[in-house]
Amino acid sequence: MSANNTNRIYLDNASTTRIDPRVLAEMMPYLTDDYGNASSLHYLGTSAKQSINKARKTISRCINAKAEEIVFTSSGTEANNLALKGIAFANREKGNHIIVSAIEHDCILNTCHWLETQGFFITYIPVDNTGFIDLDFLEKCINKKTILVSMMHANNEIGTINPIDKIGLLCKERNVYFHTDACQSFGKLPVDVVKENIDLLTINSHKIYGPKGAGALYIKDKTNIQALLHGGGQENNLRSSTENIPAIMGFAKAAELCFDDFDNEVIHLLNLRNKIIKRLSKDIEGIYFNGDLSQRLPNNINFCIKGLEGEGIRLLLLMDEDGVDLSAGSACSSNSGGNPSHVLQAIGLNQFEARGSVRISLGRFNTQEETDIFPDILINNIKKLKSIFS
Ligand SMILES: Cc1ncc(COP(=O)(O)O)c(C=O)c1O
Repeated sequence: MSANNTNRIYLDNASTTRIDPRVLAEMMPYLTDDYGNASSLHYLGTSAKQSINKARKTISRCINAKAEEIVFTSSGTEANNLALKGIAFANREKGNHIIVSAIEHDCILNTCHWLETQGFFITYIPVDNTGFIDLDFLEKCINKKTILVSMMHANNEIGTINPIDKIGLLCKERNVYFHTDACQSFGKLPVDVVKENIDLLTINSHKIYGPKGAGALYIKDKTNIQALLHGGGQENNLRSSTENIPAIMGFAKAAELCFDDFDNEVIHLLNLRNKIIKRLSKDIEGIYFNGDLSQRLPNNINFCIKGLEGEGIRLLLLMDEDGVDLSAGSACSSNSGGNPSHVLQAIGLNQFEARGSVRISLGRFNTQEETDIFPDILINNIKKLKSIFS
């Protein structure tokens, strides 16, 4: 079944994005004529190999890495698994302690929970009420057995941006690997793995108007890491399996488009975001915003409304009926079993409040017109709910 979404207002770009037509055009030849396996020695094979290496160069330039430091994966989840498990198992002799923040994406936290069953100790660093960790506390948590610190660049729910340069420096001084999950920030915030002392960095394609099925892990030269997939030795022996060339080529094109027009894209997002925040602040009584209002992703808004605690899903469904796609703090994932978000609870919201939160995440294809119409629809639905519940 394919959804008819031509007239919908899509405000869930942190979840995934519409593919850019220029990305699709880049991918098409690899789905049709250029179908070679990059491990084959004939013409189609070597051509595929050259294409992947071109994509590797493009991605590496976006983060100031070397091409050979990029390992393509199938997703951000896979790259995060490779980073954490790969470092954990390769460095077991050195230590078995890993530090992460309490508001990491589930694919980091659940990997950590699994690593705990394998004899690793994990410290989950708490955050303050806007989502920041305390750097002094982080420093105190690093001990002789610590092998890795993993802290996301920007949070997927509340948009808070971590000071990764400071965390990177601290890890370098303490001789501990530093990994950052940059799935939400890639293409929206500048990243420089050299300047920021990053040893491992995760990115993915479907958050930047690229196809699903492609991600990458930057692994600094000489990092001691083990593969999770064993087989034909692709990706420098770190990720065996035949490369998904159409997706990789689309990913690289998507990254190139983001970085070619970086400033304008960010300005577009900031304009739309600030306009919405202004309008909602003016016209919705009892609204409060979650996360930090300055150190946050340019496309993220997360809010709750006093008097409508617990009603995030109901609001989401009303908006859905009216053709607007949003995300609720209790339903960031339909796999969460309806549990309220761990991120919102970590910043001090109780379960009830967390169930009332709504996330708006803007993207390249959102227009000024949509940001004029959307608040009217939201305000109307909030009035409906308030008339029932207050
Ligand atoms: C911060 C963060 N990390 C990791 C992921 C997982 O990425 P993927 O969907 O490519 O597995 C996401 C996607 O929601 C994310 O927002």
